[in-house]
Amino acid sequence: MSALLKTEGLTLAFGGLVVANGIDFELHQGERLAVIGQNGAGKTTFINICTGLLKPSAGRVEFDGVDITGKSPRHIVRRGMARSFQLPQLFLDHSVRQCLELAGMARQSRMPWWRSLSVTADAREVDRVLELVNLGARQHEPATNLPEGQRKLLDVAMSLMLEPRLLIMDEPTSGVSSEEKHGVMEIVMGALEEKKVTAIFVEHDVDIVRRYATRVAAWIAGGIAADGTPDAVLADANVRREVLGE
Ligand SMILES: Nc1ncnc2c1ncn2[C@@H]1O[C@H](COP(=O)(O)OP(=O)(O)O)[C@@H](O)[C@H]1O
Ligand SMILES: [Mg+2]
Repeated sequence: MSALLKTEGLTLAFGGLVVANGIDFELHQGERLAVIGQNGAGKTTFINICTGLLKPSAGRVEFDGVDITGKSPRHIVRRGMARSFQLPQLFLDHSVRQCLELAGMARQSRMPWWRSLSVTADAREVDRVLELVNLGARQHEPATNLPEGQRKLLDVAMSLMLEPRLLIMDEPTSGVSSEEKHGVMEIVMGALEEKKVTAIFVEHDVDIVRRYATRVAAWIAGGIAADGTPDAVLADANVRREVLGE
């Protein structure tokens, strides 16, 4: 099976600091990849390069067999790779439902969303996504009223309106209380399963990694130090010392 996402020799340095160290990586459809690593290891940089926010100094990114290196985030979203937490804060002034409508319009239109207000989102799709993330009861409230856990769900829901085949989530449970975390992930993963979306998520909580990942990649100093099943990677001596701080 060919890779959904593939990188070859991805390289980037900020000043003298190498944050992507010639990364070769492949992700296949249906995988749930947890990315772990200490702060500053280069996890977000890797995501930023794959989603078009940063250009690598060398190497390439392919999505579904097509070279997308250096393409704009909008172009990459349209191809089917979405990312959570990327959408503007000003959506918080809108109702939960309006947030999903705006995200849906952004998907449909080739124009920037603020010029595309004559395009309407599919109301049934909005209903369906609201139900998937359990936000139906709060759809008419301003997004700013939502507690952190439900804001994360709204972010994911907005990404789902973009009809992605791959969703990359950078720390989807950060800022969510430990009691709430599992509930948030349960809903997110259920929604992705239902929509048949492949997922990458950056996560620090080992319990969550074990429970929801089919595969784990450990980042150390701008490179992937271990990549494999959760059991194998979480038992790796280097990962235990350098990433988990044991
Ligand atoms: N735009 C930037 N300019 C300079 N340095 C940056 C920039 N973005 C990130 N860095 C640095 O690159 C390193 C990797 O950052 P990042 O990818 O955000 O790590 P992680 O997500 O694993 O915590 C860090 O040392 C960070 O300070
Ligand atoms: Mg980060």
